[in-house]
Amino acid sequence: MKKRILRMFEDKGILVDPDALDALADSADAMKCANIILDDPLRPLVLTRSDVENYLTCQPAPKPPEPMSSRDRPIGEEAIRDDGPLEVKIVKDITGNSTCVGNLIDFAKLFNDRYTTLTKILQRRRELSGLVSIAKAKKVQRDIRFVGIVNDIRQTKNGHTLIELEDEEDKIQVLLMKGSKKASESFVKDEVLGIVGSFSKDGEIVIAKEIIRPEVPINSGMVPNGSNSILAFVSDIHVGSTEFLPDAWNRFISWLNKDPAAKQIRYILMPGDLVDGIGIYPGQEDELLIEDIYAQYAELARLVAMIPARIKIIMMPGNHDAVRLAEPQPALPTELRSMFEARTIFVGNPCYLEIEGRIILAYHGRSMDDFIGSIRNLSYGRPAEIMKEMLKRRHLAPIYGERTAIAPEQKDYLLIDRVPHIFVTGHVHACAVDEYRGIKLINASAWQSQTGFQRMHNQTPDPAKVPMINLGTGETWVEDFSS
Ligand SMILES: [Fe+2]
Repeated sequence: MKKRILRMFEDKGILVDPDALDALADSADAMKCANIILDDPLRPLVLTRSDVENYLTCQPAPKPPEPMSSRDRPIGEEAIRDDGPLEVKIVKDITGNSTCVGNLIDFAKLFNDRYTTLTKILQRRRELSGLVSIAKAKKVQRDIRFVGIVNDIRQTKNGHTLIELEDEEDKIQVLLMKGSKKASESFVKDEVLGIVGSFSKDGEIVIAKEIIRPEVPINSGMVPNGSNSILAFVSDIHVGSTEFLPDAWNRFISWLNKDPAAKQIRYILMPGDLVDGIGIYPGQEDELLIEDIYAQYAELARLVAMIPARIKIIMMPGNHDAVRLAEPQPALPTELRSMFEARTIFVGNPCYLEIEGRIILAYHGRSMDDFIGSIRNLSYGRPAEIMKEMLKRRHLAPIYGERTAIAPEQKDYLLIDRVPHIFVTGHVHACAVDEYRGIKLINASAWQSQTGFQRMHNQTPDPAKVPMINLGTGETWVEDFSS
């Protein structure tokens, strides 16, 4: 079997790491997985174990959920469902791992981690085989391949696009000719790009032939795994706001408790803005029903306690919550956690989770403001399009120095370094269910009608919708509690 697989890849000029070969051979359907990788236009030049793991068809055969080890079990997680223990693992989260002290050196480490991680991903792309550093590219002065972080983007007076890229030690100017397909693409500051190009006659700038993004590979999505659990998404509740929608919430709670269709809901993930907070935007005090932050969380605890006890709750903060604003944000502090039932799991923003074998990337979505401000055609009403831009760049918040505050951690927790099955966001108060290269995309509505601030910024929310996903089949749908 291994020899056959190896030959298939060799025929296509792909080197296979021994670990990757083992992972393929151990997968439930090695040949199917190998063929999916070979059919992917973004397949790597050297196949590694993590590549194989990212091609989601290579999952073990469906088996009943195993009980979690005590090491995997988050604090406070004791809930047991009728047919076995609930499975929630926190895969990656800043909570308890913050290293930042806020000096310039820390920012250098953060960007270095971003550059290094995304360069490793780009290195596997055949178009970038033989890539060199920018300094070396300048010495070679012929056809070159390199990777850099976007430092500046501008239009020349002749209408060409000029991008300044930098790596750990040098900078370079890259020209995208007016009218070319590349020039029609949208670039944002601080994203990482791979460039294939050649130097201009005067040797000053590089004329780009190809621009390669880290991009997520195409995969076959959520192969049925035997689970019958449903994961529901409830975002941007904004408890404490005068615009919070208690009637819609009560309809949702009543449905959860009475409707047979709700029986299989085992988990509810809340991707941020749990409460409205205090002093978040100018004039917010006029739109607050509850003006004390602790009282807001106490009311949230009361509302969440109405959710049937069989359902595990996962709470993440957003930019309205009582944690630091700079991302990555840690989970709610202990004094607030103690207000909630033991079935509640508290995670940071962003966070990678694994629930019943499915990898979930949850991010509140503050950077959507910066994406909308930087890329034409993106809007608050179509968040899935913004999520696709994040996946292309393998980064949740690449743009530094705009509205999204970034904490100078030594590791970049906003990198999309693992390909998820499900990617969920909130923040824009829209409801969207979509798919991109096999990844389910969800933006999880809100429980607040239009605020004065949103009216001023021409944002129309689509509240009281609950997107859901069947963790076994990957089927997605939306339940509407708006009327
Ligand atoms: Fe919000």
